[in-house]
Amino acid sequence: MVSREENDLMTRVGADTPGGQLLRRYWQPVAAASELTAEKPIKKVKVLGENLVVYRDTAGRYGLVGELCPHRMASLAYGRVDDEGIRCPYHGWKFDGHGKCIEQPAEPQNSRYKDEIEHPGYPVQKLGGLLFAYMGPGEAPALPRWDVLAWEHGRRWVVRQQLLDCNWLQAMENSVDPSHLFWLHGATAHLANTVDGYEEQHDFIPFDYGIMKRRTTPNRRKPGTSEVDQHPLLFPNALRHVLRTKSQDLKIRHNIQFRLPVDDGHTQVFVVYFEPSDSVRTSADADVPLEHFNHKDENGEYRMDMVLAQDSMAWETQGAVMDRTREHLGAADRGVVILRRLLKEQIALVQAGGAPLGTQLATKQNAVIELDVINERIGVGSYKPDAA
Ligand code: FES
Ligand SMILES: [Fe+2]
Repeated sequence: MVSREENDLMTRVGADTPGGQLLRRYWQPVAAASELTAEKPIKKVKVLGENLVVYRDTAGRYGLVGELCPHRMASLAYGRVDDEGIRCPYHGWKFDGHGKCIEQPAEPQNSRYKDEIEHPGYPVQKLGGLLFAYMGPGEAPALPRWDVLAWEHGRRWVVRQQLLDCNWLQAMENSVDPSHLFWLHGATAHLANTVDGYEEQHDFIPFDYGIMKRRTTPNRRKPGTSEVDQHPLLFPNALRHVLRTKSQDLKIRHNIQFRLPVDDGHTQVFVVYFEPSDSVRTSADADVPLEHFNHKDENGEYRMDMVLAQDSMAWETQGAVMDRTREHLGAADRGVVILRRLLKEQIALVQAGGAPLGTQLATKQNAVIELDVINERIGVGSYKPDAA
């Protein structure tokens, strides 16, 4: 049973909360790179409960700073950028990407007042069409170069989903919940004919970056054999997946979904897709096309014929912050229990001064992290059991 205190511990994202302090130890996606242009170089964002602006200066550098100017609190979202940073629209105070105040035009010429000003500023890096920020203490860990973000042998694009009116953990618990697949997505994902495959086996295997989920299903086409589908939950708030398009060309589409905690009751999903190709190349640091996905139609109804919208329906109807004191977990919810245990363990580790899962792994500059994603049904990879 989850107590009220445990529910708060796992779901709160503010800077003064243990959960928020864990989330701040990981690079978080704050915008699609293509959302910042020369015409519109500043974008207002809310991340982990903080109101911020992300910008690109005229020298091409990115910054993420507090939205409200520390002078008299006007919004930097209406400011302007130059080759050094961002300037407030009201009286012209200027800040660099570290949040350091570097100019106060109306102050006396020799004034050092600007050196006393403290303003939030966080490092930003571009990868795979997204802008990632590190909002934690100390030196930032290496930004993980997940395969879908760093591969270059194909086409990449980003989908920004409609803002979800729910806490981030509801989306993540869904990623260790294999039994929802047939019921919520069965008809749409053409899996209905395997609904009676409840003899299937689910494994949740801890690994360097999170939890590897492995589903082993009897293969109807070859009786006596089985098929493996394996893909990881990347702790704490991403999911790596692969699918095949239903159109005639049956293209393989790898993807990674980031569930950004906007505040306690809102989550922004960014999905990056990568489609391998013989003729197209996309560099890891290129801006890529951006698409938008709405999980509701113009009447405010969930678009229940689409997989992403089906999931959104489930997560939002659980409540803004699901009340886990009232739930009734069953044996099939083992993955959810494993994720919560990992989350609480990692929160405690950070509170004790440690580095949480995955962040301590030294990534070699530019090394791509190839994840062991398998889906034998659609011909991606093949599972080789350890010889042990
Ligand atoms: S409010 Fe920003 S410079 Fe005055
Ligand atoms: Fe789902």
